[in-house]
Amino acid sequence: MADKKDVLQPALWTPRPVDETIAVYADWAEDYDADVTERGYRTPERLATALTQFAPPDSEILDFGCGTGIGGAALLRAGFHQIDGTDVTPEMLAKAQARKIYRETWPSTPTDMGFDAGRYPVIAAIGVISLGAAPPDLLAPLVGMLPKDGLLALSFNDPTLGDDSYAQALQAVCDTGVAKVIFREHGPHLDDVGMGSDVIILRRQ
Ligand SMILES: C[S@@+](CC[C@H](N)C(=O)[O-])C[C@H]1O[C@@H](n2cnc3c(N)ncnc32)[C@H](O)[C@@H]1O
Repeated sequence: MADKKDVLQPALWTPRPVDETIAVYADWAEDYDADVTERGYRTPERLATALTQFAPPDSEILDFGCGTGIGGAALLRAGFHQIDGTDVTPEMLAKAQARKIYRETWPSTPTDMGFDAGRYPVIAAIGVISLGAAPPDLLAPLVGMLPKDGLLALSFNDPTLGDDSYAQALQAVCDTGVAKVIFREHGPHLDDVGMGSDVIILRRQ
């Protein structure tokens, strides 16, 4: 069982192969909610609130990398009510399913997101394209799953902001005219460790 004192250390926010990422989250699934909630996990609420400025409450939203469903719960509290979820770690996804807040959930794989391009006008990826989770090269394909004018709401925590490869991936989708940043705000991520994050909303062009 993961010990929160051990999990939420700088070593969590480092690049690692996808099978190791899945193993980390499989081990953590049981304690993840308690660990991050006790430590003041603020990004889901901030992202959901930001999204209300751009998407109506009846938007169909995919919570991509939904984990245990903390992000879905924040989206629900913000007024969204048509939320589906997917994640690559079965143990995390099982916790999300148990919340009974998602219309539909399915396991994705690193090479198959498990849904059709254009299916969701809004995708949320909270703490997913991030050091220690999915690599920066997932950003362009994920944006590519949006329909024209679709929204991707994501977050980069401070360690991720400090890694040029994520900034470059974001710059690339903007420079190529595939997407445009319509919202970006730095704020609290994990109170307990004094970490911040950028909440970013992209609109597919
Ligand atoms: C820090 S957790 C965030 C979970 C949830 N979004 C939240 O805010 O609590 C990162 C999640 O991303 C998932 N993940 C990592 N790589 C992924 C990928 N390529 N596709 C989908 N999910 C992925 C992990 O399994 C894990 O559940």
